[in-house]
Amino acid sequence: MNDFAAPAHSHLPRHVAFIMDGNGRWATRRGLGRLLGHSQGVEAVRRVCEELVKLGVPYATFYAFSTENWQRPLEEVSGLFGLMRSYFKKELATIIEKGLRVRFIGDRRLGGKLEADLLALMEEVEAKTAHNTKLHVTFAINYSGRDELVRVMQGIAADAAAGKIVPEQVDAAAVEQRLDTHGLPAPDLMIRTSGEQRISNFLLWQLAYAEFYFCEVAWPDFQATHLQAALAAFAGRERRFGSVPAAVAA
Ligand code: IPE
Ligand code: IPE
Ligand code: MG
Repeated sequence: MNDFAAPAHSHLPRHVAFIMDGNGRWATRRGLGRLLGHSQGVEAVRRVCEELVKLGVPYATFYAFSTENWQRPLEEVSGLFGLMRSYFKKELATIIEKGLRVRFIGDRRLGGKLEADLLALMEEVEAKTAHNTKLHVTFAINYSGRDELVRVMQGIAADAAAGKIVPEQVDAAAVEQRLDTHGLPAPDLMIRTSGEQRISNFLLWQLAYAEFYFCEVAWPDFQATHLQAALAAFAGRERRFGSVPAAVAA
């Protein structure tokens, strides 16, 4: 047995993770402010969620704001958080009606970088959608994979100091249990838009055996057809999880 339990020959991914990239360039190319690209990016999230429900993909994760994105100009950062606030306030009823279960990953410690009212709104969204099952949507906000792993290590160190864990008990399961994504299956497919071919500190632990798909289209232009093309590419991949091709093993 290995830790990578996903069925090797499932043609439809169970969990798709998105690095929604290219909002800024999309707007700049049109002579618009970057924030307009981000607001069009919100529309793309809506479209993609609808299509995932239609296709029967049960889990999706969207990278919305990285711990490195705080380096952007203040105007863009506050604009982005303004968009998130209004999206969750205005859309909550629709999200509930559509049966979406929403979760957030990232550093949510009080007194950290996220403001208290946003943290409260995030909690409200999670609580009010907790019983939904149609599509499990996770937003990564103030998230980076390295930061998540550092917080896991801090948790383990604290438990060790309190005598709750000994080194021999620190295994993959002990790490998983402390990840922000605890309870979610690992992504099978990671899609990054806008031509960049890098991971940018996203889900470093969880993407260990994910298939990667990069496309040129900017996130605000990402349509159902682009998603379908990514899923078709995924269906054509052979996932081996370190083993040998099925034909050889048979
Ligand atoms: C992705 O689009 C959205 C966020 C990082 C919040 P970008 O804002 O990175 O767009 P580009 O890459 O500058 O075009
Ligand atoms: C990754 O995109 C972060 C999000 C999509 C939220 P970036 O645009 O921040 O990544 P880099 O800087 O191109 O690597
Ligand atoms: Mg970018």
